[in-house]
Amino acid sequence: MAAVTAGIRAARAIVALDASSLARAVALVDSLGDSCDFYKVGSELFTAAGPEAVIAIRQRGYDVFLDLKFHDIPNTVRGAVRSASTLGASLVTVHASGGADMISAAVEGAATGCRVLAVTVLTSLDARGLSRSWGREVGAVEDEVLRLAALARASGAHGIVCSALEASAVRAAHGDTLELLVPGIRLDVESADDQARVATPAEAVAAGADYVVLGRAVTAAADPRAAMRRVKEVLR
Ligand code: C5P
Repeated sequence: MAAVTAGIRAARAIVALDASSLARAVALVDSLGDSCDFYKVGSELFTAAGPEAVIAIRQRGYDVFLDLKFHDIPNTVRGAVRSASTLGASLVTVHASGGADMISAAVEGAATGCRVLAVTVLTSLDARGLSRSWGREVGAVEDEVLRLAALARASGAHGIVCSALEASAVRAAHGDTLELLVPGIRLDVESADDQARVATPAEAVAAGADYVVLGRAVTAAADPRAAMRRVKEVLR
């Protein structure tokens, strides 16, 4: 991976609060403050702390990305997204593989100002892992991401989630009609942890990301504030 260098596109930074308690999450928010644009509440924190997690972040004046990756029947997902936007989330995720009707229902459930992003292929999966879970040979992850991005767009999603490795192909195919959110971010040469498709913030921005998700690269850093400063160097 390339080192962090000057970026070419404005992108927003999202810090993933993958914490086991509300107290830990709030401590991180209070430490990082407005150095990022959104805070992400995912399955771990939401399961531990529930809606209070979203409310606590909103009360501090920050925008919330509720990353619960809904994947259920359309009626259930419509209601889940409605509840998420009522709670104050301004970005929510669903799995694109839930299908066209489910994605459309999610968009119907979203209040004005709440955007629905469809997860294409989790950044923890490579072609081999995808082939095993889908029971067919997947040649290139990018082809599957492009297929699901087209489905998401046709179903009215505001954007998609993919890795930096596919972002430029999605941008080339869809222009600015889809917002691109890119997780799997690592600051430079370090462990990819359980992620299979990783990139630096500079690479994600150069590939066309609108949002980059900073997880352990920031939250598990010895100095999370210093790590955020490095990220901000490339996000204009
Ligand atoms: O710590 P790390 O940077 O690997 O965390 C990535 C974050 O982005 C996690 O909170 C994870 O749930 C989320 N995410 C992801 N891949 C996706 C969508 C979301 O890793 N496709």
